[in-house]
Amino acid sequence: MASKPVSIADLEQLALEKLPKSVREYYAGGAEDEITLRENITSLQRYRVVPRYLVDVGQDKLDVRSRPIWGKRQNVPFAVGPSAFHKLAGYDGELDVARAAAKRGISMGLSSSSTSSLEDVIDAGKQAQNQINGNDRERREYDLMDSDWWQQLYVSNVRSDTAEFIKRSEDAGYTALLITVDRPYLGRRLSHLRERFQLPPHLRRATGDKMAQDPSMHWDELIPWLRSVTKMKILVKGILHPEDALLAVKHGLDGVVVSNHGGRQLDAAPASIDALPAIADAIQGRIPIFFDGGVRKGIDVYRALALGADVVLLGRAILWGLAVSGEEGVGLVLDIIAEEFRLVMALAGVTDISHIKRSTLALVNPWQAG
Ligand code: FNR
Repeated sequence: MASKPVSIADLEQLALEKLPKSVREYYAGGAEDEITLRENITSLQRYRVVPRYLVDVGQDKLDVRSRPIWGKRQNVPFAVGPSAFHKLAGYDGELDVARAAAKRGISMGLSSSSTSSLEDVIDAGKQAQNQINGNDRERREYDLMDSDWWQQLYVSNVRSDTAEFIKRSEDAGYTALLITVDRPYLGRRLSHLRERFQLPPHLRRATGDKMAQDPSMHWDELIPWLRSVTKMKILVKGILHPEDALLAVKHGLDGVVVSNHGGRQLDAAPASIDALPAIADAIQGRIPIFFDGGVRKGIDVYRALALGADVVLLGRAILWGLAVSGEEGVGLVLDIIAEEFRLVMALAGVTDISHIKRSTLALVNPWQAG
């Protein structure tokens, strides 16, 4: 591509051209027939936004901050989601992602399978944040809130390892745990099975994480244990059934992440966007709903918010930017999605996140979708 990338699709194309085959397949691939992987995107695309006009959408009227999450409005309603092994994309991996996010006051979830240590990631982010705070803060339209740092992890059957990892995350400044629950066993990712995926020798799991999800863990035992070892916010990541969302509320969790692991676990699990409305109906605003799966555009953020999400996480979109040009590329991803989202709000005649309601969407019948 000779011209400048202006969409995540452009960056994806550039990244796919650039990455070695094994990394390309590791990042892009899903489980089995990749039905869920594809539907995450096609199901989002079935939603149309029905605009309202003659609303004052002057620049000073648009407020793109999130609904309050634990009392704080995020600068934008999207954040970096956790994905493994960023240094496979090259550059400084997770450190570049943290810097790009922090400079924009965008929050980040870090994978426990990171190729940079959890302490280095938050330090890189906070240093970048301080630079911005020191230099340009006064020149900004309004004061940016600092990013939040969330740690994703798998709870292992060696609970002492998990407890130690949680303590390290808490000491380093992470404020929430995203407990991934949809990987009791690894999904069958066919390209990885054909050619067993391995980290190249120059990279390592920098956090020393040995943790695979304990397949025997369950609600009654897990949540009290987690509460006994940390004061951090606790969310479960990978919720698709409204009954599980209700159990999360019943067990006093601080949020759920509606997700199917980017189509990498149970193939033919519903697209995340299709699971979202019933979960939002079950939760009824009692705890925040994070959402991921197939988000590639500002309009996808809008769609997810309209169907009940509070925060939308970016998965592969971040990896594509990182692979193209490190921190700059991740910054471009975040800026493109922010700009697209702001424009969708303005064109839809919506000035505040609280007005992004389900009634502003129309669902195209599947047979009509292209
Ligand atoms: C992931 N995801 C993931 N999730 C998690 O909880 N822990 C992890 O270590 C990883 N690692 C990981 C690696 C790669 C290469 C991908 C693509 C995904 C899942 C991730 O958090 C998120 O659920 C999906 O990526 C969202 O879908 P999209 O945005 O990639 O379509």
